[in-house]
Amino acid sequence: MKTTPPRPIDYRPVTGEHMAVRLCSLRKVHGRGAGAVTALDGIDHDFPAGTFTAVMGPSGSGKSTLMHCAAGLERPTAGTVVLGSRDLGTMSERQLTLLRRDHVGFVFQDFHLIPALSVAANVELPLRLAGRRPDAHRLDDLLSRVGLHDRRRHRPGQLSGGQRQRVALARALITRPEVVFADEPTGALDRASGREVLALLRAAVDDLGATVVMVTHDPQAAAWADEVLLLADGRLVDQLTGPDTTTAETIAARLAALGA
Ligand SMILES: Nc1ncnc2c1ncn2[C@@H]1O[C@H](COP(=O)(O)OP(=O)(O)OP(=O)(O)O)[C@@H](O)[C@H]1O
Ligand SMILES: [Mg+2]
Repeated sequence: MKTTPPRPIDYRPVTGEHMAVRLCSLRKVHGRGAGAVTALDGIDHDFPAGTFTAVMGPSGSGKSTLMHCAAGLERPTAGTVVLGSRDLGTMSERQLTLLRRDHVGFVFQDFHLIPALSVAANVELPLRLAGRRPDAHRLDDLLSRVGLHDRRRHRPGQLSGGQRQRVALARALITRPEVVFADEPTGALDRASGREVLALLRAAVDDLGATVVMVTHDPQAAAWADEVLLLADGRLVDQLTGPDTTTAETIAARLAALGA
């Protein structure tokens, strides 16, 4: 009989667990000379597969830059990003483009759907671009999970903001990516629609084994995550883990302590 302890209920990182993304001594300096801005100033962090992480911090603290470097959208000035088993620093631009298409899911504040395509076609698009056969079962399952199966033939323009973001989430999940990056996914939504999107991000992690990294300014949104990272001036200054500390109240208090 196995004697290892059961997996902790709050999905805290377990040593030796598979890491979806590893950041090591990550630095990013924009520009050069007197006008140079240090956006990331030595970030070390591992994102365990199958967990939900929120990234918070004052405006300009480096949240988007961290996400862009981790997703292979921007090249760091120094340090390494390992996504799955791939060291992004060793990859060409072409390889990074394919990596983003095939192994990373993105959810943006303003949805980025294609207006001329139906809901179903938007969700399938990453698979079609990759020349992969759209899996009808997976498509049906994801559309049902996000509550839009009966809207599959509609265009994005016929949907509410919350519904559009649910399409974007299904699209981000269709390729079974190593990680889904979401930059302010609830920023353009009302509270109720935002809660639906957050519940679906949570369910993607709990039910589908997805890994989610979400940038947000909202402590109530961050409270859905397993772990909350707080950035200030390009540094990781605080890390909250576990159901007792990842509450909206505690998160708001720690943010306030940063002078956010
Ligand atoms: N392309 C760029 N050129 C020069 N400076 C940049 C560039 N992109 C970001 N920066 C600077 O890097 C720092 C971090 O920016 P970043 O966008 O990562 O912050 P953020 O935490 O996402 O902020 P916000 O909450 O406002 O979105 C800021 O000082 C910003 O002005
Ligand atoms: Mg930002």
